[in-house]
Amino acid sequence: MKAIVQDEYGSPGTKHHRVVVPRHGGPDVLQVVEEALPEPGAGEVRVKVLAAGVSAYDLMDRRYSFPGGPPMPYTPGQDIVGVVDKLGEGVSTVEPGQKVAGFTFGDGGGYTEFICRPASELVPVPAGLDPAEAVCLVVNYLTAHLAMHRTANVQSGERILVHGAAGGVGTALLHLGQLAGLEMYGTASRYNHELVSALGATPIDYRTEDFCARIRSLTGDGVDAVFDPIGGATQVWRSYRALRKGGRLVWFGMAATKKKGLWVIPLTLLMQGLLALIPGGKQAPLMPDLGTFTQEHTDWYRETLTELLESLAAGRIKPVVAERIPLLEAVRAHELLERGEYAGKVVLVAGA
Ligand SMILES: NC(=O)c1ccc[n+]([C@@H]2O[C@H](COP(=O)([O-])OP(=O)(O)OC[C@H]3O[C@@H](n4cnc5c(N)ncnc54)[C@H](OP(=O)(O)O)[C@@H]3O)[C@@H](O)[C@H]2O)c1
Repeated sequence: MKAIVQDEYGSPGTKHHRVVVPRHGGPDVLQVVEEALPEPGAGEVRVKVLAAGVSAYDLMDRRYSFPGGPPMPYTPGQDIVGVVDKLGEGVSTVEPGQKVAGFTFGDGGGYTEFICRPASELVPVPAGLDPAEAVCLVVNYLTAHLAMHRTANVQSGERILVHGAAGGVGTALLHLGQLAGLEMYGTASRYNHELVSALGATPIDYRTEDFCARIRSLTGDGVDAVFDPIGGATQVWRSYRALRKGGRLVWFGMAATKKKGLWVIPLTLLMQGLLALIPGGKQAPLMPDLGTFTQEHTDWYRETLTELLESLAAGRIKPVVAERIPLLEAVRAHELLERGEYAGKVVLVAGA
């Protein structure tokens, strides 16, 4: 193994802290533990975490027990940006001191000061980027890219409707939609309309307006694609109705579980199945989960994340960071996500 390199981020010492979920419950179950620094195995890299993303999935895993969920105790966090601290045996693709970004492929573990991950999962981050902005690209922008370019296959000039348009994935969809030359509409609460307009979309207040009727009145015959991270049988049905002939409905999230619970998932799947039986030229393609897709398409993962990081460095995209919260104050981050009324992605940052 190579020696630890001291860099501007300082010596790691012998201990570190990470956040754990010891049992299901509210934000207050999150705890901080101190333990020995993890050692990278063969093919792994130890990374000092500078920024870790907080997502709706982290809340669901913490709150509910369901098949396939993480065994207790576990550390949440799917996306990190950090600096390479120590190399395991056989690693030559990254250098100590280099900044990297990575998805943890469904394993979690991101809310921590140090993490060991396979070198193959880590993508170099161009110099000078803000770690909090860069970490938004890993889950949110990759999900948006997968939805827009691999599932809906949007074409320049097409019209799209983005639900949850001011959310983490929603703002990423609007940025990518702008780059793709799309005409965009986005549902959001009134307090987020200024942001949705600034990102190039016509805002629709889903709390007070019938989005389906509004889309009809704004477009005449509907949109070419709807991106729905909300879920629920009624929501998905109305999203389908907002499509014009030949349109594609991409349901990829379950934000509605926050208020309605896990029942939203089977009901949405049932509706998705029924929609597939309706003739008339509209489609509701199933979008693969980002974790499954990236595991099966590692080249796509590396290439797309690298392209997104280059776009950020070139100023073509500017992720919306809702709030930067110190890494070990994850309780506050989860409370904010539970409460709502934020825009963009909540990020945990080291040394804040
Ligand atoms: N399939 C995948 O691989 C994948 C990957 C990542 C995320 N996801 C899913 O995507 C979903 C969204 O993630 P996110 O990180 O963007 O969450 P987020 O940042 O919490 O954004 C969701 C937004 O939805 C809005 N909202 C809530 N109810 C709504 C409704 N009925 N109609 C329209 N907007 C509504 C809220 O905006 P306002 O404050 O404006 O009301 C909220 O900010 C999550 O449920 C997650 O499960 C899936």
